[in-house]
Amino acid sequence: MSKNLNAVITGVGMYVPETVLDNKYFESIIETNDEWIVSRTGIKERRKLENGATSDLATGAIKDLFASTGVKPEEIDCIIVCTVTPDMLFPATACLVQNNVGAVNAWGFDLSAACSGFLFGFQVGASLIESGTYKKVVVIGADKMSSIVDYTDRNTCILFGDAAAAVLLEPTEDKSIGLKDSILRVDGSGREALNMRGGGSYMPPSHETVDNKLHYIYQDGKAVFKVAVVGMADTSYEIMKKNNLAPEDVKYLVPHQANLRIIDATANRMGIGREKVMINIDKYGNTTAATIPLCLVEYYRAGKIKKGDNLVLAAFGAGFTWGASWYTWGID
Ligand code: COA
Repeated sequence: MSKNLNAVITGVGMYVPETVLDNKYFESIIETNDEWIVSRTGIKERRKLENGATSDLATGAIKDLFASTGVKPEEIDCIIVCTVTPDMLFPATACLVQNNVGAVNAWGFDLSAACSGFLFGFQVGASLIESGTYKKVVVIGADKMSSIVDYTDRNTCILFGDAAAAVLLEPTEDKSIGLKDSILRVDGSGREALNMRGGGSYMPPSHETVDNKLHYIYQDGKAVFKVAVVGMADTSYEIMKKNNLAPEDVKYLVPHQANLRIIDATANRMGIGREKVMINIDKYGNTTAATIPLCLVEYYRAGKIKKGDNLVLAAFGAGFTWGASWYTWGID
């Protein structure tokens, strides 16, 4: 279907908490070592929010966006917070962020798609813009993973960090820029491999759920690794093929930062080298919905992305959820 409008990112913002947990810290609390963590995951350190909740991370990111663009809170039409660590089951974190920043004309909602959250939120936000209904939509990826990490489980605790990053989407009639295409998928048969079972309507909180550690992330790392490699690599390759993008047409792969080996496998399948892959997993670990926008903010602010650059965004997460998007950068 041809569109009259494309959705383009016109501003970005990010927030990472100050506390750094490096691999040495984990050597002091669990049986692990820096060499294992770096070689198996690529992670050297991650951030932890000591006080506050996901809405505080998200608020930090949107405030940074406002400060760097000059856009005012009252101009925002809609706020989408992509997260699996909402402050509460309800109200939505988006409502709390709206109130924190005084976005008095906005509506909003939370979107739950785990590590694919930003990719899914980006498509939803872009659709609101492309329809012509809204002019300024903010999509935020925000997760306080430290709130659901079991710091005695060495299989998962070394992987995750806290962060938030935001993009502002606006309409453009220039079809050469903006979100061009997405391939998005879910497969709920993956529920057993990666989940947090306690606390919802399936297993409401009880002494038993607490005793059985069901309010923490559970991950069968090996099983997830196998499907993540295939899911991310396949959809990234598919989006290139579908849109006749050759490896040389792609400026950057912007992958979800879960594991450097999954990222490398995706780049290999796309036929591109490491120099064309956005990577910051070493500094932040897996920040779930925040990884992709965090990469975009850092690379943009470092002057590494220019107008007209083709990006392939790719993610895989709990659900399972996964996908890839073709986005052409639209601002200098
Ligand atoms: N330090 C040292 N050893 C550790 C460890 C740690 N932090 N965590 C696990 N190990 C051990 C395991 O106990 C296992 O020991 P064993 O062979 O004696 O049982 C050994 O290391 C190998 O474990 P394995 O699970 O095969 O490691 P791996 O190479 O698969 O790496 C992950 C583990 C979690 C890093 C990897 O599976 C992964 O990244 N999975 C996917 C994560 C992901 O993409 N999630 C999706 C989105 S969130």
